[in-house]
Amino acid sequence: KFVPMDEMLNAAKNGGYAIGHFNTNNMEWTKAILTASQQDLSPLIMSVSEGAAKYMGGFRTATALIEAMMEDLQITIPVALHLDHGSYEGGIKALEAGFSSIMFDGSHLPFEENMKRTAELVELTRKKGASLEAEVGAIGGEEDGMASAGEIASPEECKQIAALGITALAAGIGNIHGIYPANWKGLNFDALAAIKAVADILLVLHGGSGIPEDQVKKAISLGVSKVNVNTEFQVVFAKATRKYIEAGKDLEGKGFDPRKLLKPGYEAIVQEVHAKIALFGSANKA
Ligand code: G3H
Ligand code: ZN
Repeated sequence: KFVPMDEMLNAAKNGGYAIGHFNTNNMEWTKAILTASQQDLSPLIMSVSEGAAKYMGGFRTATALIEAMMEDLQITIPVALHLDHGSYEGGIKALEAGFSSIMFDGSHLPFEENMKRTAELVELTRKKGASLEAEVGAIGGEEDGMASAGEIASPEECKQIAALGITALAAGIGNIHGIYPANWKGLNFDALAAIKAVADILLVLHGGSGIPEDQVKKAISLGVSKVNVNTEFQVVFAKATRKYIEAGKDLEGKGFDPRKLLKPGYEAIVQEVHAKIALFGSANKA
């Protein structure tokens, strides 16, 4: 049912556009992401972090929810079910639960250890017909509660890890997770070019929330084929929900019904997904 990322990312790279990796947390997020992507006929990377899977009940709950909803909503676009920033053990569990793609984030490990673990997961994902994303050079900001400054990935390390046979690579080029600070210097396009020059690999841009649109477009034109977005959906959901509550709508009639209370947030995510698909250029590519 779910597909690996290879085909959609290769088509994106060749076509000069990128596929959105959108993080889900629950039923509303899942429905908004599936609905907007289907309306735009855009291939989709539906992503679940280990934290989000735990929040939902576990990997199997996540798989079952997304799979069943795809059937009920008659989703026809290709969807990769992807583990975001996975641990080694989490990656194995996600594959067992039916994920078609995993990211192993060994960026906090010594490089040799990251290589060793990534190589093992190359074997396992191959056997399962799943795709694998690796990371070198920590991406700044917050990754599962751990704050860190952004690092520029070493092209030599990118080359070595790419040669293991991974599907895609997340390499730090000044991008950070969460809200960008006012003094952020922007993406380092020289670093991106240096990585691209030596590593023959599909490239992923993490921390896709809040990067100025011209920089996102430039990164895509330089070969980025997957852009990860999480925080922006959380922000638009929270804002829309706040507006509803501050207007006192939950106190009118049956406004406290969760199907009404969560609707503005849901609709805000739908709009945001449409905006990202338009920016990345992946509409009508499914
Ligand atoms: O892996 C997920 C992304 O890198 C999301 O980053 O929350 O800054 O959009 P973001
Ligand atoms: Zn990330």
